[in-house]
Amino acid sequence: MPDTDALFEASREQFYIPEGTLYLDGNSLGLLSKSAERSLLEVLNQWRELAIGGWTDGPHPWFFLAEKLAEATAPLVGASPDAVIVTNSTTVNLHQLLATLLAEESVGNRREILIDAGAFPSDIYALHSFVRNRADLSIVTVAAEGGLLNEASILEAISEKTRMVLLPSVVYTSGQLLNMRALTMAAQKAGALIGFDCSHSVGAVPHEMDADGIDFAFWCGYKYLNGGPGAAAGLYLNHRHHALLPGLAGWFGSNKQNQLAMEPHFTPAQGAGALQIGTPNILSMAPLIGSLEEINRIGINRIRTRSLELNACLRNQVELHLANYGFQIITPSQPQQAGGHTAITHPHAIQICRALRACGVVPDYRPPNIVRLAPVALYTRFEDCIQAIEILREIMESKCYLEQNPERGLVP
Ligand SMILES: Cc1ncc(COP(=O)(O)O)c(C=O)c1O
Repeated sequence: MPDTDALFEASREQFYIPEGTLYLDGNSLGLLSKSAERSLLEVLNQWRELAIGGWTDGPHPWFFLAEKLAEATAPLVGASPDAVIVTNSTTVNLHQLLATLLAEESVGNRREILIDAGAFPSDIYALHSFVRNRADLSIVTVAAEGGLLNEASILEAISEKTRMVLLPSVVYTSGQLLNMRALTMAAQKAGALIGFDCSHSVGAVPHEMDADGIDFAFWCGYKYLNGGPGAAAGLYLNHRHHALLPGLAGWFGSNKQNQLAMEPHFTPAQGAGALQIGTPNILSMAPLIGSLEEINRIGINRIRTRSLELNACLRNQVELHLANYGFQIITPSQPQQAGGHTAITHPHAIQICRALRACGVVPDYRPPNIVRLAPVALYTRFEDCIQAIEILREIMESKCYLEQNPERGLVP
């Protein structure tokens, strides 16, 4: 059993940490690792040397890359590989899952789709655009209470009218982790489908998607999976839905044996692979080959333990040093309710984020008042957390954040 500290120190050395920064924004964009760079270069080399032959030959045949990445992702989400596919973007995957799982018109009273009112905007936009063309469906929201989602209120909102429940695994603002198993049991007991946006958990929090029995999930490849800007996303579709035809069909959702026969009739792949649409974005998938290898080498359970320790360290530092400056930690302190980042609120959050960046600490800001700090097990050290909070304390002490213009556009 390798020494854990040595393992994470070696892992950090695999990453390109931007010079002079304390990077705490891995939940927006994970850093480039040498293994991701290597696999991207291998794929580029395949293009250079094999041209069209790269689809079937070379170290990473492109024709099978989505399935190969699904196999590497499956242990992170607790699923069999055929229930996972790495494809498209997160938002496109949500559109695909809605179109697939809600293809049939609702009959009787079961017409409602329940969503968190504070869900990531792209999820809300996707859902609204889907429902716009479906007179049989309507959207019902459940709001956070005191900054957090109350699971009891969600359970209360699920009824015999609910057709689908769509929730985050980890809330992108507060960092709250929901109890996916309990929510799934309740939704399914009421006869509803349930799915999760796992963008802020996959790669940081282990999942048991098959065992929990969730109907579907989708997630980003560029956050904790370190796949690079716009990396291919992932989706999960439970086995009990594998007989469904994809709502948005395309030739890459074909059974591979038939795909190149160019038949006008669509023969879907077995499993989640059928939800692919067109030609995969190979160059946006290539870094994931190396980055997933790295994550699996360390193991998601070890990553989770380290992530909880790093976030506990941040929390302690905030409590110790920032108590007098008007901050509030909104991420739940219980590990079973906390994802991969720590969210703190402050009335001057946007200016504070700008001041932190000016001092080399990279957090991110979420309106109206949230500073998100995401230490990533694979490359953040405990001393980074301590130093970042010390810099924040100095910023608060000197009040230099007040010099930052709050109107100057939002930090992305
Ligand atoms: C929680 C969550 N859901 C969905 C998305 C949308 O992802 P994409 O823009 O890759 O479709 C994001 C993007 O940051 C996100 O954080």
